[in-house]
Amino acid sequence: MINNEKLLARFRDYGIKSLKLFGYHTSRSREYEFIFDNIISKKAMIMDIGSVGSLLPLKLAKNGHEVVTVDTRQYHEKHRNITSISKDINNIDFPENIFDEIICVSVLEHIGMSAYGDPSYQDGDKLTVQKFNKMLKISGKLLITMPFAREYKILPWLNTYEKIYNYEYITTLFKDWKLIKEEYYIPESQKNWIKASRKNAEKIHKPYPRSNLACFIIKKL
Ligand SMILES: C[S@@+](CC[C@H](N)C(=O)[O-])C[C@H]1O[C@@H](n2cnc3c(N)ncnc32)[C@H](O)[C@@H]1O
Repeated sequence: MINNEKLLARFRDYGIKSLKLFGYHTSRSREYEFIFDNIISKKAMIMDIGSVGSLLPLKLAKNGHEVVTVDTRQYHEKHRNITSISKDINNIDFPENIFDEIICVSVLEHIGMSAYGDPSYQDGDKLTVQKFNKMLKISGKLLITMPFAREYKILPWLNTYEKIYNYEYITTLFKDWKLIKEEYYIPESQKNWIKASRKNAEKIHKPYPRSNLACFIIKKL
């Protein structure tokens, strides 16, 4: 299973790079670009949640960061700077104030929804945000991406559901945090997400599952 995920991650990385050569950006390539453009520059303690399928933690580890990956499934990459935890994020007893930054690429909408064989429970996203708040150092940052629309909704995903967030839901979820940066992207086509204002990301909707994308940096106060 791990080998399949490992292969898939490389295949996807290759796909993203190839499309970029032709000027196309998938939603994932926009998300990774956002992370790399905004990640802390000094060597730091970083947690990446929902890491399976992603080479982002490996790339950060190679850049000298200490990376902790958390996923209910086993992460497929090994590196001396990577520690991997195969558990539900809301079932881990981490010490408080340990991470400089937390990365959450298209994961919050799945927590508690059991799409990946993970446990099903209510308010997974709210519990996770509280957990992030405890794990981050004071002034630590959360770099987070998620599907976005004018209305908050829960829509079918794989065999279960995922959440599509709106601005009001996000501001309530992070009411004790400070929003530092927000970017929005709209699918112009299956393989090309283009930058948009929040207003346009709220106005324009392509047929699901090509949801608009929101990328945020949110600081712990
Ligand atoms: C959309 S996928 C992976 C996204 C990945 N970050 C990327 O860049 O492609 C969401 C991931 O979240 C993981 N996940 C879901 N619920 C979780 C939970 N409660 N705790 C930890 N990981 C979870 C799933 O196993 C899955 O690997």
